[in-house]
Amino acid sequence: MDWGIQNRLSRMIKPKSGRIVMLAVDHGYFQGPTTGLQDLKSTLDPLLPYADTLMITRGMLRNCVDPNIDVPIMLRVSGGNSVLTELSNEDLTCDMEDAIRLNACGITLSIFVGAEYEHQTLVNLGKLADWGNKHGVPVMAVTAVGRDMARDARFLGLASRMAAEIGAHIVKTYYCEDFKKITAATPVPIVIAGGKKIPEKDALRMAANAVADGAAGVDMGRNIFQSGDPVAMIQAVRSVVHENSPPDKAYQMYQDLSASQK
Ligand code: R5P
Repeated sequence: MDWGIQNRLSRMIKPKSGRIVMLAVDHGYFQGPTTGLQDLKSTLDPLLPYADTLMITRGMLRNCVDPNIDVPIMLRVSGGNSVLTELSNEDLTCDMEDAIRLNACGITLSIFVGAEYEHQTLVNLGKLADWGNKHGVPVMAVTAVGRDMARDARFLGLASRMAAEIGAHIVKTYYCEDFKKITAATPVPIVIAGGKKIPEKDALRMAANAVADGAAGVDMGRNIFQSGDPVAMIQAVRSVVHENSPPDKAYQMYQDLSASQK
């Protein structure tokens, strides 16, 4: 692999553990003011010291994040539709020169496999991979599947493998039953999204199962920033991802940190 791509990957996926806790706060690109992110700066500031990478759009990066941080940026460069319309009709919404200007460590887009605009999102992944390979910037593909398709190992596995085939350097997908089949068939690092907010203990268990089944870590949003105590939660997630803490121990850590921070 190209030195620049490998070096940027190793700034995000920590070489010591081979794992990553990426914090996703890009939800507003199609959802607007998502619960917990209305005042993005206030939510982010206390979480940043615990994030290995921050997934964000260029607008929020420029307006809400201090450029003096040392957290690598995974820049979302796709969009084009809101929750009110056909989500799969995504295109590239950020010029690659701007990604460089923002010192992005990685760039990311969604692919919608089995959805109406599957073709254009997959072709856009190819374009980003070409650009990323030329300039040494890794590309992360976020796998979405068609509205009526189950988020299971068959369809998420299909989307994840296709993403790697087309050139993604990292794949973001969802945890599901038989997740090992997805990691076994996808020869690039996989991170899981957290999905909708669930109880902290369950989210920690999901993260633990994902890394045990071969994920390189998480790219988690709502289960951190919508948690009862986001700063305690991201630390508990870190202990699962980087130290293989069992979920019960991590949940105890969450409770202890939460109590001590009150
Ligand atoms: C989805 O397309 C966006 O990248 C989201 O920001 C991300 O997948 C959501 O993360 P979570 O499901 O953990 O809130």
